[in-house]
Amino acid sequence: MLFNIFTLLPEIFSPYLQASILQKASDRGLIQFQVHNIRDYTHDRHHTTDDTPYGGGGGMVLKPEPVFEAVESVLGPSPACPIILMTPQGRVFNQKIALELSAHSQIALVCGRYEGVDERIRKHLITDEISIGDYVLTGGELPTLILIDAISRLLPGVLGDPDGASDDSHASGLLEYPHYTRPPEFRGWQVPEILLSGDHEKINRWRREQSLLRTWKKRPDLLVNAPLSTADQKFLQDLGDE
Ligand code: ADE
Repeated sequence: MLFNIFTLLPEIFSPYLQASILQKASDRGLIQFQVHNIRDYTHDRHHTTDDTPYGGGGGMVLKPEPVFEAVESVLGPSPACPIILMTPQGRVFNQKIALELSAHSQIALVCGRYEGVDERIRKHLITDEISIGDYVLTGGELPTLILIDAISRLLPGVLGDPDGASDDSHASGLLEYPHYTRPPEFRGWQVPEILLSGDHEKINRWRREQSLLRTWKKRPDLLVNAPLSTADQKFLQDLGDE
């Protein structure tokens, strides 16, 4: 999958993208990043990328010309891939959107800066707007990295463990069950007996119930949309009755 990133701060990306799993995935040709500096597509002496807003008010607005030129010179005049603007006004990112985007062979990510972007970018270039939550950052660079990270780890072969992503918190619509590793006892705290039993049917049921219990305690809002079996519903019903 190819990520085309359009930004005014290209230097932000390599330290993160060149670390660990994402670098390995890129070395293996599973993902590819191209970072494009919007400023390279300006033609005035000062390489101007922003200007004051029509109608007055504070802040600066990202100009349309360099953004259109950057995207069109990289992707061609009528790009087929999603062109996503990272903005607090977008649909709120979650695992389902990560999965949806992971189906594309290429996506373009436009990082907003300044107080906003000229509305014509939004209306005539951008095909999707994504927010990473209801708070405002200084730009779309961190949100872009978050998107790339969440999408990349869903691609086949990126994680060492082929089931790594399917067991995740949120993958099933529930929070993940608790994990333990050696030693079986640490400072007097024991690993739950059942995990040492070798009975995989019982372990799977225990994990499922722990997922349900955690979600019920920490994120009950997720239970509304999670696919639940009759046994799951009974378990939750009993929790509610306690
Ligand atoms: N740019 C600034 N804040 C943002 C947010 N919350 N999500 C995506 N892009 C942003």
